[in-house]
Amino acid sequence: MTNKPTVYVTRRIPSAGLEQLERACTVEVWPEKTPPSKDHFVERLSALSADGLVCLLTDDVDAEVMDASPDLRVISTYSVGYDHVDLDAAAARDIAVGHTPGVLTDTTADFAWSLLATCARRTVEGQAYVRDGEWETWQPTLLTGQDIHGSTLGLVGLGNIGTGVAKRAAGFEMNVLYSDVERHERTEEELAAAGVDITYVDQDDVFERSDFVSLHVPLLESTRGLVGEAELRRMKDDAVLINTSRGPVVDTDALETALERDWIERAGLDVTDPEPLPADHSILEYAPEKLVVTPHLASASVQTRDKMAEMAAANALAGVRGEPLPNSALD
Ligand code: DGY
Repeated sequence: MTNKPTVYVTRRIPSAGLEQLERACTVEVWPEKTPPSKDHFVERLSALSADGLVCLLTDDVDAEVMDASPDLRVISTYSVGYDHVDLDAAAARDIAVGHTPGVLTDTTADFAWSLLATCARRTVEGQAYVRDGEWETWQPTLLTGQDIHGSTLGLVGLGNIGTGVAKRAAGFEMNVLYSDVERHERTEEELAAAGVDITYVDQDDVFERSDFVSLHVPLLESTRGLVGEAELRRMKDDAVLINTSRGPVVDTDALETALERDWIERAGLDVTDPEPLPADHSILEYAPEKLVVTPHLASASVQTRDKMAEMAAANALAGVRGEPLPNSALD
């Protein structure tokens, strides 16, 4: 009888993926809603001599974790982002790293749009108004917001999700600007192939000229704090900032100051720093009038979370078998 590989999973992922893993491996799943502590994580990998690890974006996967099991061959994150995994440490140990690109692009772009529209048209405030019993009559200037159609959308970052957001803007007849942290201006052919008609500008121009600024960059040393006081001061005072990328891309203190001093009209955040955002965090004083916050939901459709689970399982299974991962983060 051959021994099955052992895989440790840091949270219960959808059964679409978990069952694939359980058919081929001995699987231990951390059963709680919140992440296991680092100590526990390390102890279980070590006790199991785990061959594979399936983790979430909330787990800090560093060299200590990787050294916990001498047999660890693969780390498969149930996310497209992998800023929580030390890729250099994994490469140095010959541990494969998988992630889930592609499947959440459209779902995340849909959500960025939903947050943008919510902020522009003050939907959350509207619901609070009704629930609070304030709705007495139709009023000429009740909760008036910003027009989306015909306005200017600025995208910071034009990867798959940024491109998805740009495509959706065409239906609103928006003027779309984009910048790139590496200053990579796409050719006309590249833009046509991506199906978008948009204009490259300097990052400062995105902030200065846009009515809506939406962030679509990965979290890197170069993008940490990318939106600080200077950028927020550059924005129009009736502009809206949308962040569905990673919380630390925006300097939270600077954003709080911007909301307090009316440098911008409103912000919509699906990701925060810190994350999770404590209910007593001072920036929430500005919600819902100037701030809408959702708990990192952008990829949270049933279909997409199932596909992510299948991809995470496929990466883990390939890794424990010593095969190339279908979606490697180390390429
Ligand atoms: C990811 O997969 O990196 C996303 O942030 C999850 O929504």
